[in-house]
Amino acid sequence: MKNFLSIYDITSNEMMALFKSTQHFENYLDLLKVKHFNFSPLKKIIGTLFLEPSTRTRISFEAAMKRVGGNVVSVADGNCSSCAKGESISDAIRTMSQYVDLLVVRANSEYQTWGNNFDCPIINAGDGNNEHPSQALVDAYTIQKKFGTLKNLKVAIVGDLDNGRTAHSLLKLLLREGNKLYVCPPPHSKGPSTYDITSCNPSHFDKPPDLTTKLSTDQLIDILPEIDVLYMTRMQHERGTVDKPPLCLNEYLVKRMHSNAIIMHPMPRMEELPSILDDNPRSVYFSQSKNGVPVRMALIKWILE
Ligand code: NCD
Repeated sequence: MKNFLSIYDITSNEMMALFKSTQHFENYLDLLKVKHFNFSPLKKIIGTLFLEPSTRTRISFEAAMKRVGGNVVSVADGNCSSCAKGESISDAIRTMSQYVDLLVVRANSEYQTWGNNFDCPIINAGDGNNEHPSQALVDAYTIQKKFGTLKNLKVAIVGDLDNGRTAHSLLKLLLREGNKLYVCPPPHSKGPSTYDITSCNPSHFDKPPDLTTKLSTDQLIDILPEIDVLYMTRMQHERGTVDKPPLCLNEYLVKRMHSNAIIMHPMPRMEELPSILDDNPRSVYFSQSKNGVPVRMALIKWILE
């Protein structure tokens, strides 16, 4: 049984194969707009158990499940589950895993505390401030589509590095592929424990990668013209962060980026990424969220087949 709890639960080769199948699903979704297809139903029930708020992740997972012909049962709000009566997350997951063929879980605690008595594969859709591996696949697919490669790029991850689970998974993925990573957290962040390479399992690397370089806001602005991918994240005040974003983008700063560079964001975005930038050719965050469906279709197929 294949769980997908950490980005390390997929190898680099498996990820590349998954991106090929993502490309097929993307073409299929485009064709669906002009032509109706009858696909053979998957005859599987897929569950979502979301004990923290979500827009993109849950809906793109559920759309992906339906697009591959699965049936979906869903707990979309923790207040409507027995967790609101004090049931433990591990009991809730264990129980739901008895009813479905695949379960996608979001909770406020790390997946290591979810237990391991599952009757079906589990996908981690965000576990507290730890990981969000399917989002990292979506992000990596978006980068690969743009640059034709996932290697030797300069990527800056900006924002709440202490709490940003999308940043944690993406950082591990991109380091494993051999990219140059810069992080720019707010000045008083706990750092570097959650995003330093020492928190990544060295056995996943052929050779030890360079340490991630930590930049101040001024240093980041200085090297902006060299950056290929600027990955913005919001400050997660609901997890106790009191800092302001280390960088709020504006048109002047974006002009300093090279013309092929891209601006990404896992969303939701706040003041760090004003909507005035949405039409800038470097802004790819809406195609990034659109890629959530084909990537998750490929992920579901990979896990179930
Ligand atoms: C993020 C999350 O929930 O971790 N969003 C997402 O899933 N695309 C990022 C966030 O909440 O800031």
